[in-house]
Amino acid sequence: MRVLFVCLGNICRSPTAEGVFRQRLSAAGLETQVTVDSAGTGDWHVGKAPDRRTTLAAQRRSYDLSTLRARQFVAEDFQRFDLILAMDTSNLRDVQALRPANATAETDLFLRRYQLALDEVPDPYYGGEDGFEQVLDLVEQASDALLDEIRRRL
Ligand code: 4NP
Repeated sequence: MRVLFVCLGNICRSPTAEGVFRQRLSAAGLETQVTVDSAGTGDWHVGKAPDRRTTLAAQRRSYDLSTLRARQFVAEDFQRFDLILAMDTSNLRDVQALRPANATAETDLFLRRYQLALDEVPDPYYGGEDGFEQVLDLVEQASDALLDEIRRRL
């Protein structure tokens, strides 16, 4: 099972999802059975570590994002992953636009897939500190639901 999280810059929401979900997998002893990565539809931050506000908010909840580096989503990701989970509808649209004819991956909105209170993870980049806490709250809930799904599918 291979899961890819996608947002716009790959420095706030999708690295948070990668870090939180890796922790969930590790706690469940499933880290060797599931491949996890994240990517951004845009290329502005390629090679950079996550946003400092994202890293600090995650650190306060004991998630270590320090080794992550941003990369851009590419069409080949449709073969490299089984499940591509976008943070908002604009990210999902940008991903779908690159879908090759032979694509095998399933695509979905991360929150909508699990019928959480919101359908999208709001972009925290231009907002205040509470936006980063909200990203963590939503991503933690969805990661628990994703772990349940993966347990059923393995
Ligand atoms: P992300 O947040 O998509 O959650 O990583 C953003 C990061 C950077 C920008 C926008 C959103 N930006 O415009 O540079």
